[in-house]
Parts: sequence; C-alpha cells; structure tokens
Amino acid sequence: MFISVEGIEGCGKSTLVNGLGQHLHERNIDYVITKEPGSTSIGKILRSILLDKKQQISPLTELLLMFSDRLDHLDKVIKPSLEEGKIVITDRYIDSTYAYQGAGRGISKSIIDNLVSQTEIMLPDRTILLDLSPEVGLKRASTRNELDRFESENIDFHERLRKSFLDAAGDNPDRFITVDAEQEPDKILQLVINKLF
Ligand code: TYD
Repeated sequence: MFISVEGIEGCGKSTLVNGLGQHLHERNIDYVITKEPGSTSIGKILRSILLDKKQQISPLTELLLMFSDRLDHLDKVIKPSLEEGKIVITDRYIDSTYAYQGAGRGISKSIIDNLVSQTEIMLPDRTILLDLSPEVGLKRASTRNELDRFESENIDFHERLRKSFLDAAGDNPDRFITVDAEQEPDKILQLVINKLF
C-alpha cells in the first residue's frame, strides 16, 4: 500500500507519519517512511537547492526539479519497497506539486497533468490531507526553525495551497482522507488508523 501525507506548512505531517510508523512497527508490519523532496542522494542535492532562500528559481525550473526528485524517489525507494511488499508512507508527493507549483506559483494544471501522464508516475492508494488554516500553520512552522524558501511566502500563497489541497480531495474522494489538523495529535492518529487499516 502506497500512502501520501499532505498539507500546508505546520499542519503536523511529521507527527502523524511518525505515529503511523510506530503503529505499524508494533504490529510487525513492514513499512518505509520517506519524504519529498530529498529521500535519495540526488534528491538531497535537489532539496538543498529548492529550499535555499538565496536561490532565484523560475516556476518551471522548480517544477522540473521537484519532478526529478520524484522520479528518482520512485525508482530508488518507493517502487522497490512496494515490490518487497512494504507499506510506503511518504511525507508529501504529487498533490504538493499541484498545490505549490500549480496554485502557489501559477503553473497551469494541464502542464502538471501532462508531466504526470508522460512520466507515468504512480498515484498513491490513499492520501491523508491534514487541513489547517495558514495562520495557525505558519505560526507553528515559524517557532520550529528559520523559514525556508516556501515557508517565507506570504499568506495568500499559503491560502492558495490550502484551497488546492481541498480541491484535490474533493475531486478524488476515494483516494483522500481529509482530517481537521487542529485536533489533538493522538486523536488525528487514531482517526487516520481507523480509516486506513
Ligand atoms: P520540508 O522542510 O520537507 O517541509 P514540510 O515540513 O512543510 O513538508 O520542505 C519541503 C518543501 O517543498 C515544502 O515547503 C513544500 C515543497 N514542495 C513543493 O513545493 N512541491 C512538491 O512537489 C513537494 C513534494 C514539496
């Protein structure tokens, strides 16, 4: 089973992903926790470029760098792990591209759709969307560490991301599980476990 976890900055993805890992570990179920961008050696280099506030990156360059990361991630981590029968949980995947590079940076959905179909990337079986208002999310994110190139964008940018994620969930009701991310972490974890397994 291939699961992605999505949402705006500060929505609690890492906490949920760790909780899911713990749950699977306790049940002796083989799993892999991974993330985008930056889960392979090529991906780590791409991630450092993508998150660096000093870099000027055009929207299309950013899109293609994200896709390069994803293709390498699929080849080296996601597909081999699924073939070994493991559950794969990725912290961000394709819906982040529609949100950040699409709704955020203004690249048309059809360009991203074309890339998805031309590269034949696989879609997750299930996607968990942790939905949260950007005011709350950015406040949480800013207490963690210095804001990166995406976190430093203005509130409108983050509002567009939220809407894009919610639209994707509305368009794909069989794939998405949408959760109110203002709830207690334990409650969120339990809710998601009940829906997933
Ligand atoms: P990260 O520090 O992992 O952020 P977070 O904890 O919010 O997931 O940085 C990943 C950043 O990359 C995040 O701001 C979202 C962005 N991103 C895109 O813009 N497009 C994408 O396709 C993906 C996968 C991530």
